[in-house]
Amino acid sequence: VSATGRGEADVLIDGETIVGVLAPGSQLLGTDLAASVDTVIDATGKYVIPGGIDAHTHMELPFGGTAASDTFETGTRAAAWGGTTSIIDFAVQRYGERVEDGLAAWHEKAAGNCAIDYGFHQIIGGVDDESLRAMDSLIDEGVTSFKLFMAYPGVFYSDDAQILRAMQKSADTGLLTMMHAENGPAIDVLAAQLAEAGKKAPYYHGIARAWQMEEEATHRAIMLANLTGAPLYVVHVSAKQAVDQLAWARDQGWNVFGETCPQYLYLSLEEQLGAFSEEWGQFEGAKWVCSTPLRSRVEGHQHHMWQALRTNDIQMVSTDHCPFCMKGQKELGKDDFRAIPNGIGSVEHRMDLMYQGVATGQITLERWVELTSTTPARMFGLYGKKGVIQPGADGDVVVYDPHGHTTISAASHHMNMDHSAWEGFEVDGHVDTVISRGRVIVDGGTYHGSKGDGQYLRRGLSQYLV
Ligand code: URP
Ligand code: ZN
Ligand code: ZN
Repeated sequence: VSATGRGEADVLIDGETIVGVLAPGSQLLGTDLAASVDTVIDATGKYVIPGGIDAHTHMELPFGGTAASDTFETGTRAAAWGGTTSIIDFAVQRYGERVEDGLAAWHEKAAGNCAIDYGFHQIIGGVDDESLRAMDSLIDEGVTSFKLFMAYPGVFYSDDAQILRAMQKSADTGLLTMMHAENGPAIDVLAAQLAEAGKKAPYYHGIARAWQMEEEATHRAIMLANLTGAPLYVVHVSAKQAVDQLAWARDQGWNVFGETCPQYLYLSLEEQLGAFSEEWGQFEGAKWVCSTPLRSRVEGHQHHMWQALRTNDIQMVSTDHCPFCMKGQKELGKDDFRAIPNGIGSVEHRMDLMYQGVATGQITLERWVELTSTTPARMFGLYGKKGVIQPGADGDVVVYDPHGHTTISAASHHMNMDHSAWEGFEVDGHVDTVISRGRVIVDGGTYHGSKGDGQYLRRGLSQYLV
């Protein structure tokens, strides 16, 4: 199955590279194909797809006085189990730090520790003369996109003047601007007012981060991008009103893109409000504290998001994998939702969760591949090598069994998390075999990968630049 069609074929991999996609029963140098290769994987009755590309992860991200609980080792192993063979993680530059140092620190964390190939985006937490100058060399480093934050004042936040200057750089260089679009200063006032009124449970995180704050920031980002000519990619879109802003901009013909995540397709603010457990009481809802937040199902955001995936108003699905354990991490905010580290971990389950869209008739098989692999490759300058099964591409291939079954649980997942946002969730389909650059790293429930298998991906410019 590719982004453009499906058919019966044999995929021939030599070393690390795909060398042929052949009609069934093809001859190779005059002999039967199966007889002339070392290893045959029988995928009869299953789907053979290009390995997943998760273009939004945060391994080891320092956040809220702690750090995301998956290292590059544990996080990429979990990704491999779930049929993802490449990640793009966010290197961090903070205000007052040098961009080069932030990127070097991320290389140090990842090098020799990844089970699958990995690339980086650059978070720019301080836009000034020095960081703008440093951004000039990012493309040579194979880092062809950077993320700005309209949220998190005092941490990663950029004001409109800084955004404008960074977008001018984006327009000049072809670096893709990625935006966390939420009005952070206004959200922080709302959050403080809620806390002052004694509304400190996890659910109020989502009340403070109202959809108006996402719609407004999305619109502002779009207009600044249009003014400067910067290509814009809005990350983790959750509000239907933000989707409509993106659809409107695209209808103008503007080079604007949107990503959503499985949590915004499946989980809701109402479920967070109702969350309760013996262990955590009402604080159970902290498992679903992420930004942008989960949205109201009554207001129909999830339904709207599935529709946007069909109509291409939203082009990609990444996880925004940013795992924190309840014990010792999320519980930092036990008395005040503002202190809960933001993030959900799901790098292992993106392919399965998105396959549910196929199983329930919401998206086609081809669209599944496009959303999870082919468009991420094109968007972030990896296409040809990644995101497609064709001669010359890396041998990143997943055999997916549509008749298989998975129950998502912290008891069986491979992420370094003491809970799952999808605990008990029943999934049709199963990742059977995962091949990363020609090596079988997951095979019918056995892991054959190892840290250090993964190589750094020096990315080209986005293939969506005009
Ligand atoms: O809650 C989230 N999304 N945490 C990760 C940081 C970010 O904004 O992507
Ligand atoms: Zn973000
Ligand atoms: Zn993120």
